[in-house]
Amino acid sequence: MKEKMDKIKNEALALIDSATNTAELNDVRVKYLGKSGEISALMRDMAGVPKEERPMVGKLVNEVRFAVEEALSKKTELLAQAEKVARLKAEEIDVTLPAIGNEMGTLHPLTIVKNELIDIFAGMGFSVVEGPEIESDLYNFQLLNVPKDHPARDMQDTFYINDNMVLRTQTSAVQARVMTTEKPPIRIVCPGKVYRSDDDASHSPIFNQFEGLAVDKHITMGDLKGCLETFAQKIFSKDTKVRLRPSYFPFTEPSVEVDVTCAMCHGKGCRICKGTGWVEILGAGIVNPVVLDMCGIDSKEYSGFAFGFGIDRIAMIKYGIPNIKMLYENDERFLKQFN
Ligand code: DAH
Repeated sequence: MKEKMDKIKNEALALIDSATNTAELNDVRVKYLGKSGEISALMRDMAGVPKEERPMVGKLVNEVRFAVEEALSKKTELLAQAEKVARLKAEEIDVTLPAIGNEMGTLHPLTIVKNELIDIFAGMGFSVVEGPEIESDLYNFQLLNVPKDHPARDMQDTFYINDNMVLRTQTSAVQARVMTTEKPPIRIVCPGKVYRSDDDASHSPIFNQFEGLAVDKHITMGDLKGCLETFAQKIFSKDTKVRLRPSYFPFTEPSVEVDVTCAMCHGKGCRICKGTGWVEILGAGIVNPVVLDMCGIDSKEYSGFAFGFGIDRIAMIKYGIPNIKMLYENDERFLKQFN
């Protein structure tokens, strides 16, 4: 019995010694001290030991059990400590490494140009007004002196929603809204999206316009030209010149087409301006008295100027963007260039 006990003890201690993790150690605990473990079996064997030997044998069995328990607990502590160190080592982070950066977004070139335009005109006393993109025929056309079936409707390929509603083709619609609700003096600019059934390198079915309107006593073509010159020199460059050519719009009389000296070659002539030194940027004129009267402003007392241009076109000229589609594709390689 003594020999058997020693054998069990030595085996157990050897297994404990060679265990490399807490799971293995637990297996050893079960193998010897578990309910049907070998040391527990020794206790049960006591029943067969003669009465007078029992105290001695019992003492020995207990000694074995204590020795194994103690070795187990020591080794458990040792392994737990080693496992903790290993875990901490594995989870170690190098706080001195550079952080994974978040990429900053940038403003869209159309937003940059729009903000710049608003700043320029705010500096001349204009305030910003916006209107709906789904607009009634009344504001988009009729109050601007384009009655139903008027040939001037062909100037713009309109998306009709029904007989009376359109996707606005021009921010001029906002002029009509403001003139019917406000009294002069009026000085407003109206940026916003407009829609036309038109699609090529310089036309997109959705684009952005910027409308201006000033109504007061004694407004003249001179005021218009001065205002547009200030705008052109601020948005392009100080040496930019402006020229007015006669044109036609139903809502202005007289009407003009406005050219500026080419932003690329400064008037010398290049590929962008097709050698002429000038690029056309907008339409404008003196508000047609008929429009003033239709909107409830007395044309005998007041006059006004108005202008309208594409923000897209200004951005294309300013940045040398060859195709309007680039402004609507949201290709990051393109957008990142306008930081
Ligand atoms: N609404 C015109 C267009 O979309 C642009 C325009 C021309 C606006 C002359 C005006 C203006 O206010 O006076 O083509």
